[in-house]
Amino acid sequence: ATTLGASATAKNRYFGAAIAAPKLGDSTYATLLRTEFTSVTPENEMKWDATEPSRGTFTYTAGDRIVSTAQANRQQVRGHTLAWHSQMPSWAQALSGSALRSAMLNHVTQVATHYKGKVYAWDVVNEAFADDGRGSRRNSALQQTGNDWIEAAFKAARAADPNAKLCYNDYNTDGVNAKSTAVYTMVKDFKARGVPIDCVGFQSHLTNTAPSDYQANLQRFADLGVDVQITELDISGSNQAAAYAAVTKACLAVSRCTGITVWGIRDSDSWRTGANPLLFDASGAKKAAYTAVLNAL
Ligand code: XIL
Repeated sequence: ATTLGASATAKNRYFGAAIAAPKLGDSTYATLLRTEFTSVTPENEMKWDATEPSRGTFTYTAGDRIVSTAQANRQQVRGHTLAWHSQMPSWAQALSGSALRSAMLNHVTQVATHYKGKVYAWDVVNEAFADDGRGSRRNSALQQTGNDWIEAAFKAARAADPNAKLCYNDYNTDGVNAKSTAVYTMVKDFKARGVPIDCVGFQSHLTNTAPSDYQANLQRFADLGVDVQITELDISGSNQAAAYAAVTKACLAVSRCTGITVWGIRDSDSWRTGANPLLFDASGAKKAAYTAVLNAL
């Protein structure tokens, strides 16, 4: 096949991109989106600050625009994200304890209900673990509401949208390390106790290489009985093309790796300013990294 999406489809996977609603009117952007990708993730439009800017007032206009564009393009939507310590609205940042817990659970319920039947998967909880090398939970206000806040969020999401795949998503969990092992232990515990979880997302914001045990790490999670997805891939550095190929091959080698999402389309769309970590240059031309992915698919 001659596009990322069609090549991934031939391997029973999706190939997605994070997209921003304000860019949908850019014709270069819109054409690449329509022709190359089979899945989309809203880069910011479904986050807590975007969807509930004041308590109990929900604004879905931008998220709905992404959904309708995806439907017109026959693309799947990965919802991102229901509960996260970052990009919380200021009113929620001012809460703690049981008030924050109930506001979070109401948010999960309301947003998952609004998008019911429209998103294939949700990043229910994002980035809940710390980078301390000991596998601790991140010390956030959400964590301070009780260690069970993650499973409470997953249960609320399942009740609201029983057909969406429910994912835990994080970064620096791409290889076998203390942080990924802590996530692994949580997922294993959730499966043992019947807490609803269907998938784990590996953000994969990388520099120059993928960890040598990248595939083995995906496989150990898949062996727990969850799907795995590469959710926010971008790779900076001179070894970029080879690293993109390695990540693509690792996903294809793991039968439960259901798809890859790159975090933006052109380098100029990337949140990593100046890193040029994506598959298309600022003019929309295919880079060597694009060809490396296409050849690996
Ligand atoms: C980033 C967006 O790309 C930026 O536009 C925004 O300013 C900050 O968030 N991990 C995540 C994503 O899960 O939601 C983040 O997206 C990048 C890191």
